[in-house]
Parts: sequence; C-alpha cells; structure tokens
Amino acid sequence: MPVVPATEDAIHQAAQALAEGRLVAFPTETVYGLGADARNAQAVAAVFAAKERPRFNPLIVHVPDLEAAARYARLDPRARKLAETFWPGPLSLVLPKRADGGIADLVTAGLETIALRAPNHPVAQALLAAVDLPIAAPSANRSGRVSPTAAAHVEAELGDLPAMILDGGPCPLGIESTVVSLAGPEPLLLRLGATPREAIEEALGHSLSLPNDAAPIASPGQLERHYAPNTPLRLEVTDIRPGEALLAFGPDVPSGAARIINLSTAGNLAEAAANLFAGLRALDGAGASAIAVMPIPDQGLGEAINDRLRRAAKAR
Ligand code: TXA
Ligand code: MG
Repeated sequence: MPVVPATEDAIHQAAQALAEGRLVAFPTETVYGLGADARNAQAVAAVFAAKERPRFNPLIVHVPDLEAAARYARLDPRARKLAETFWPGPLSLVLPKRADGGIADLVTAGLETIALRAPNHPVAQALLAAVDLPIAAPSANRSGRVSPTAAAHVEAELGDLPAMILDGGPCPLGIESTVVSLAGPEPLLLRLGATPREAIEEALGHSLSLPNDAAPIASPGQLERHYAPNTPLRLEVTDIRPGEALLAFGPDVPSGAARIINLSTAGNLAEAAANLFAGLRALDGAGASAIAVMPIPDQGLGEAINDRLRRAAKAR
C-alpha cells in the first residue's frame, strides 16, 4: 500500500525515493501532484507513462521559492513582482528557460520556456527542503481525468505506480494553480485556477485576456476534454431529470435528484472549489444517468470552477 501519513519520517523516505529516480505523490494546496526529480529524464518519462500523458504536454516544476526559481528560468521584473506577491501559492509562471538549469528536456516538452511554482503546503515545502531538487509534478491523475484532492483519489487513479503517496489530508484549495505566461511581451493567462484572475491583474496593473482555446500551442495542457468523470455532465441545470445526480451550489436546491452533493450550501466559491473534484468523483460512482450541475457565478474563483466544469462536460 503506497499511501502513508505525511510524517517527518515518511517525508524523508519520500525525498530519498525521489533522489533515486522514483515517483512520489504528494499534497499541495491545490491538488495532489505526481512528483519526479526534474533533472532525471528517466524519472520524468515514468511520470508521463504513469499518467498516460501526451509527451507534448509539459510539466510544472516545483521549487521552494523565488531564489530557487532563478536557477531554472530568467525572471524579469514582472515575474519577480508576481512571485513576490503570490508565492508560495497557487500561481505557475511560464518563463524563459535557462539552458544551464539542468532540467530534463522532457519536462518542458522541448519548449524554450519552463513553468515554475512554489507551492504553499507544509508537506510540499518539507519535501522540497528535504530533497533539495526541483520536482516536476503534474496532477496525480490519469491524463484527461479528474484531478485528485485526497490521497485515496491518487491511489484510485495510479495504484502502486508511485513508490509512495504522502497523505496530507484533503487539499485546502482543491483546484489547480493559475498558469500565467511571461515568456512574451504581454502576460498571457494560460489556465484559470486557484489564484483569481482579478488578483493577478491588480498586481500587474492591467487586465489579462482570458485563455483562448484557439491557441493550443501556447497552452498545450488546455486540451478540450479534461477533468472528465465517466458519467455525462449537464451544466446550468435548474430542473432535475429522472435518474440524475445533482452537484448543487447554494441554499436553494431543486428537488428530485437520486443523490445530491452540495459544493457550498452557503454559496461560497472558495468552499465550492475545495469540494469540486471530490464531489465529481463521488457522484461519478453513484450510478446516475447524468450529473446535473447547478449554475455557478462566473466571477472570482467561479471562473476557474466553470472552466473545469465545461471541460468535464465536453462530449466524448
Ligand atoms: O496546481 C497545480 O498546478 C498542480 C499541482 C500539482 O502543482 N499541477 C498541475 O499540473 O496542475 P498539470 O501538469 O496537471 O498542469 C500543468 C499545466 C498544463 O496545462 C501544461 O500544459 C502547462 O501547465 N504548462 C507547463 N509547462 C508549460 C510551458 N512551458 N508552457 C506552457 N504551458 C505549460
Ligand atoms: Mg492535470
């Protein structure tokens, strides 16, 4: 059984496993990651194999802080400003890659850029400190499926492919990091996520355009179908059809669903984000004809929640 409580001992064993080129799943504040030594091409290849992930889709490299980030990428004043404002935290920065950083080419899918993030989770930070290596870590799910926000989800997705799954409890934010590219003249929002767009715009002092599905090369991970349960999803639902399960939001819930999970009875978007992937997973196992999802306001974290729901709902 690879799931172990993330004690100090277990974190040291996990660091050892990473240094030996094995894979370790660990909690971050957003979702669980499947980590590998980012300088070890074989270990990184094993991440792609475990996830069945397309090789053109690059990985985020996790570092403890800004100082470590500067070893792998060139940071201009905009990058420093965003890192100082939001790190450690759920913001990934796509930056010009330093050639002397020692990162395996497979991590960046051969691009001249690299995505870096300093996670704000005590277990992730303890692991980074113990291993003293850059950790490449995508979300610890099979490619295209719902991201894991609990150790048990990782085990359900990947079994014993990771040498260890560090259990740090449920992820407090529950939705992946926001990805911003600073590789070109204008900052680009590549993925909506747990750092709300408005907060980044305020730090930059100007607005960011929304990610554009027509520009897949800037954002190879934004494949249309993603975060997908097996049960079909029906969005913006106000009336339940027979046999449907309901993913609800807010206090006023329509009746008639075979099973209900409420993302936030108070209508709180942060609470809804934290419960989103676990809720989808639970309702996916409920044997319903479809998962009906109530409307969710499209502001703040609601933008990222709706982005995930739309991708999950794309027909196969
Ligand atoms: O919250 C998170 O970001 C989680 C935790 C584990 O840190 N990680 C995560 O990784 O969501 P993943 O692999 O599921 O998503 C990484 C995203 C993908 O959309 C990928 O295409 C994009 O980041 N990405 C990575 N490197 C890139 C690069 N050099 N240029 C453009 N996009 C990049
Ligand atoms: Mg992912």
